[in-house]
Amino acid sequence: MKEHILLTGGAGYIGSHTYVALIDAGYDVTILDNFQNASRSVVDRLEKLTGKPVTVADADVRDATTLAGLFSEHQFDAVVHFAALKAVSESVERPLDYFDVNISGLINLLRVMDAAGCRKIVFSSSATVYGVPDETPTPETAEFRAMNPYGQTKISGEQILNQLVAADDRWHVGILRYFNPAGAHESHLIGEDPRDIPNNLMPYIAKVAAGELAELQIFGDDYDTPDGTGVRDYIHVEDLARGHVLSLATLLGEDQSHLVNLGTGVGHSVQEVVAAYKRASNRDIPARVVERRAGDVPIYVAKADKAEEILGFRTQKTLDDMCASSWGWIVGPHSSEEPDG
Ligand code: NAD
Ligand code: WQD
Repeated sequence: MKEHILLTGGAGYIGSHTYVALIDAGYDVTILDNFQNASRSVVDRLEKLTGKPVTVADADVRDATTLAGLFSEHQFDAVVHFAALKAVSESVERPLDYFDVNISGLINLLRVMDAAGCRKIVFSSSATVYGVPDETPTPETAEFRAMNPYGQTKISGEQILNQLVAADDRWHVGILRYFNPAGAHESHLIGEDPRDIPNNLMPYIAKVAAGELAELQIFGDDYDTPDGTGVRDYIHVEDLARGHVLSLATLLGEDQSHLVNLGTGVGHSVQEVVAAYKRASNRDIPARVVERRAGDVPIYVAKADKAEEILGFRTQKTLDDMCASSWGWIVGPHSSEEPDG
């Protein structure tokens, strides 16, 4: 029988790509999402992409009753947990909402899983747990440094899971620290669709290339980096999705808990991303250097060899692939709908 996976936040950016990768890998998948940061039309597009009906529970991860009902209806073998709030600046404005969804939501989910005897979970963590790291490329052994409430929720989530595994050996967890996810599915049917003005670089550049925003503001060119602009380890969302399939297979097949960075190990500056997006879109991308953004980190690059050793994970796609698929998604067949939450 096929293994059945609960995918929380499965209608979101990374979750929807992971849904496709899990279906392609032969899993049964049920999505749980409250659509607060996703459009319901994602579900139709996932059906089109996979050629199969999608099972979705429209529910909040903090709703214990609905979750327990779902676990009594289905026998899940594992959970991949994406559902969370993720905007750094919003987390400074509304820290308690972030603690509630990202930490209480996780604990609630773990309680229901425990009661149902499902004790395998893949957790979305982030390079943000490193704050400003001493070492780059940054290894998994670097210390936790919370920079904002959002970062704190990822650190707390990891600590809760680690203590759970240490206290009860029936639990197995895969903690994946993503660097900077970018790009879209090659079908151009799913991609990143921020509801407001984007905070992140690539979706912002995409809107400038499309003529929806006038110019890119480059946040500082006086960092200690080759061209002075911030350097990040951009990882194609399809590579990232495949990382989740490998993490899950390791949890299910070998009962092996793991903590790994998911990145390419290579950094690109803001200027390099702008140049790559110009090539991909063949559009002008007006850009102006402004002040540094408060709380920005000069360089984030993953030490990527642990994921290769433990999961056999290696990225396959380049920055040019990320820009080309992002542009294909922006000009592609989807209509830009508002999230429904
Ligand atoms: P996203 O907002 O596109 O996806 C999150 C999904 O969770 C959305 O569909 C949203 O509707 C849903 N959701 C939010 N709160 C919920 C709740 N209370 N109950 C049920 N569903 C809820 O974000 P994403 O970029 O796909 O991120 C997925 C995960 O990866 C998050 O945990 C995020 O913190 C983490 N992460 C993201 C990045 C990034 O740059 N995108 C980097 C590192 C880690
Ligand atoms: C990348 C680079 C900016 C926008 C954030 C979160 C992090 C993670 C991913 C979830 C930086 C520069 C950006 C713009 C610019 N999310 N930039 N002009 O800051 O690495 O990470 O998203 O876990 O927690 O902090 O990503 O895409 O915002 O920035 O010059 O309009 O682009 O200064 O150097 P970041 P980003």
